[in-house]
Amino acid sequence: MAIDVAPCDLKCNYLTNPLAIRDGAPAFSWSSPLAGAAIRQHAYQVLVANDEGQLSVDSGNVWDSGVREGDTCFDVLYEGDTLEPLQPYYWKVCTWSRTGARSGWSDTATFEMGIGGTGAWTASWISWDDHVIEFDPATEMGPVDAVALGMAPAPYFRHEFDVRDGLDCARLYITARGLYEARLNGFRVGDAVLTPGWTDYSVRLQYQAYDVTSMLCSGSNAMGAMLGDGWYCGYFGFLPKRSGAHYGEHPELLAQLHLRYLDGTSEWIATDKSWKTNWGEIMHADPLMGECHFSGLDPTGWDTAGFDDERWFPVLARGRDTTSIVADPGPPIRITDVIAPRSLCPIESGKTIVDFGQNLTGWLRIKVDAEGGRTVRIRHGEALDANGRLYVENLRTARQIDEFVTSGGPQVLEPHFTWHGFRYAEVTGYPGTLSAEDISALVVHSDVEIAGTFECSDPIVNQLHTNIDWSLRGNFISVPTDCPQRDERLGWLGDAQIFVRTAAYRRDVLAFFDKWLDDVTDAQLESGAFTDIAPNLGLEWCGAPAWGDAGVVVPWTLYKMYGTLQPAARCYDAMSKWMEFIANGNSDHLRTRHLGNNYGDWLAPGRDETPHELLATAYWAYDASLMSELATALGRHEDAAHYQDLADAIAKAFVESFVDETGRVTSNTQTAYTVALFMKLLPAHLHLHAVGHLVEAVRDRGWHLSTGFVGVGYILPVLSANGYTDVAYRLLDQETFPSWRYPIQQGATTIWERWDGWTAERGFQSPHMNSFNHYALGSVGEWFYRFVAGIDQHAESAGFQRVLLRPHPGGSLKWAAATHQSRHGPIRSSWRCDGGTLSLSVNIPENVTATVHLPSSDPAHVQDQSGRGPLVIEEFCGNHSVNEAVYEVGPGEHRFVGALRHPSAGQEW
Ligand code: BGC
Repeated sequence: MAIDVAPCDLKCNYLTNPLAIRDGAPAFSWSSPLAGAAIRQHAYQVLVANDEGQLSVDSGNVWDSGVREGDTCFDVLYEGDTLEPLQPYYWKVCTWSRTGARSGWSDTATFEMGIGGTGAWTASWISWDDHVIEFDPATEMGPVDAVALGMAPAPYFRHEFDVRDGLDCARLYITARGLYEARLNGFRVGDAVLTPGWTDYSVRLQYQAYDVTSMLCSGSNAMGAMLGDGWYCGYFGFLPKRSGAHYGEHPELLAQLHLRYLDGTSEWIATDKSWKTNWGEIMHADPLMGECHFSGLDPTGWDTAGFDDERWFPVLARGRDTTSIVADPGPPIRITDVIAPRSLCPIESGKTIVDFGQNLTGWLRIKVDAEGGRTVRIRHGEALDANGRLYVENLRTARQIDEFVTSGGPQVLEPHFTWHGFRYAEVTGYPGTLSAEDISALVVHSDVEIAGTFECSDPIVNQLHTNIDWSLRGNFISVPTDCPQRDERLGWLGDAQIFVRTAAYRRDVLAFFDKWLDDVTDAQLESGAFTDIAPNLGLEWCGAPAWGDAGVVVPWTLYKMYGTLQPAARCYDAMSKWMEFIANGNSDHLRTRHLGNNYGDWLAPGRDETPHELLATAYWAYDASLMSELATALGRHEDAAHYQDLADAIAKAFVESFVDETGRVTSNTQTAYTVALFMKLLPAHLHLHAVGHLVEAVRDRGWHLSTGFVGVGYILPVLSANGYTDVAYRLLDQETFPSWRYPIQQGATTIWERWDGWTAERGFQSPHMNSFNHYALGSVGEWFYRFVAGIDQHAESAGFQRVLLRPHPGGSLKWAAATHQSRHGPIRSSWRCDGGTLSLSVNIPENVTATVHLPSSDPAHVQDQSGRGPLVIEEFCGNHSVNEAVYEVGPGEHRFVGALRHPSAGQEW
């Protein structure tokens, strides 16, 4: 029997129809074909062909998996012969249910192998030759300061070539040391920005591949590119660029265009010494400082054929070195939104403050119609001061200034190689009155798709969820960064590891973090220490607890959230080296040495009282238990046993050193209890006591948080998992600082770095460290999905194979609803309290079973949509009472209703 549905959403290496993929066997995934049919996938067949015609007659002439039993629909690894570089491949999949019903074949998807490894590149690196080109900023731009002197104009490159008749397809493979924008015959190539993204350029460069067939014509064609300094040689991080000498002095370009003809021949057009270079209108372009344009200086038609480049300069061409060049495995950075201003406020003659109503990362697009030679200057900031002026002190040395000298007539002004963190812009020099139609903000980030939604009856909580997402968007720029505005914008490991699970609930971040794990392992030091930031900027900072541990926590989280072992398998050696690094320095199972910068529970309000070696030891045990789980899943059973023994030994040492016989954990801080409980370090007889002490520690702070970057991610999950959801809500409902609500009441539209970034009494926190867009304290998002809405999975499950749907109504919430797009399909949970009744509706995807727990004061009388009572009644969860009606359900929609249990019933503080 055939069913009239087919697998969809086909992905190769987590990307849709990629034009170049990482070396190694491609991994295929798809969405369940049997959606709506409520039948499980029991078997599947994947066909791969090198010719679309072959595939259309159901021949996998490159690989035919055969009919394989299994309900897996992701990470199905290619097992055929070696795949050819540059070759397009076509693939499709069909599936069978247990009863033998067969789905239709999916639509055809494609992947291409890209250009291959370093050896396949015949192009030369080309750059602007300082010895030939003399650019004097003072002559070209008028008086400039030291910062501008440290920047150079963006080099433009051009080259003409012929295309014969009968072109079949063309692919551009391109990368840069710096940022590139590629042009063909007068048009921009692709819609990605800030390419090629950030890696440790001395170790690994990533290239992008573009299908440019339709941009070419028979006869003469022109290819061009502009380069920006970017992460490669721009001002970046908190070390000034030259003394930091991050990666190099000048941007360079490497590109190869592959032309394939219908007659079976092909040719390459590559960067080499025949290319020409010059500067155009971009006088400088820097990530932190901003961009300066002298409009009109772009020679008309420089990127089209027939342009007279007689007076352009020869390039400096040099051969490639051995740095590996890999296909970009992550999602591209794109402009994902265009935002209109909320208000425009002239503050003095020729100066207007524009408020976009949203703190964001990106840049502005401004329409202008002016006489030539007018300077329009835009400063970007996250806040206004008490006088309504732009507040920029917290940017430290980052300038975030874009400047455009007009060329006369109507123009659209927009930078190419910089980005800013801002809500407000101060525009000076605009001719006439700036109106809302003339200016918009472009939102820029790695294009990670939405994978989850959350909404509830409390608008402030909804705003908090929105703010978390905006901070995610603002800080996922090729790597997960701490902040997008000041002179930092670095891939801090601690921030990323505490936030990764929240991020994965909200957006599909698998490919993004998979790419970043390459940065993390590239940065790993000889000693085995993971660094504090990745890509590393030549710093020796490493080994910091809760920061370096990201090297284990992130691959594990990707495994849990997506069910994939690929990242963990790839990083396994690096993770093992990290474990050895810690063990080598700490033979007594207490992690007290090699703690590097040892940030502790960073930015805990007031004083960080949690002993750093306590936090460090807890994380070591946590790492060991996650390693054990991953090793088991990877079939490395000896390692699994070793790491489990290690985790037990560390937990024992932890208890001996930091826990007394009444379950008190040294320092008595919320974070100390939270990590001890979350990381399962306490023996059963102390567990309940410690939970009680945690609740006291919250109460003693007047129901405020005292957690910094680390404790904040775990405290609400720990409270809910231990029967204190009411206390969790009390923290969520707290209005005075430190709390999540406080910044929102001050108008926050993103997550702040500090609980008290701005207070009514004191104004701004110290400008030395006060970002208004820092996602770490937004790691509470995980709790919304996992606990409030209850979309979780059983402890032994990965990728939501065994869903645990256990909502935690409470606080002042009347209803909550969430979805999460799991690898198996969408999981949905929505509950509502109405009078004394709690109703719950859930949706479970195909190939998945779920255990549903409905809390109730009368669980025996809970009913599902068919009037059936629960399978069991659970009175205890671990060692606290719950009173839940429990059902086992399969795919489809299910509804339950029962008497509402007041969340604090039976609990004493
Ligand atoms: C960053 C943080 C980071 C920290 C290390 C700060 O400057 O902005 O987010 O994790 O340094 O403690």
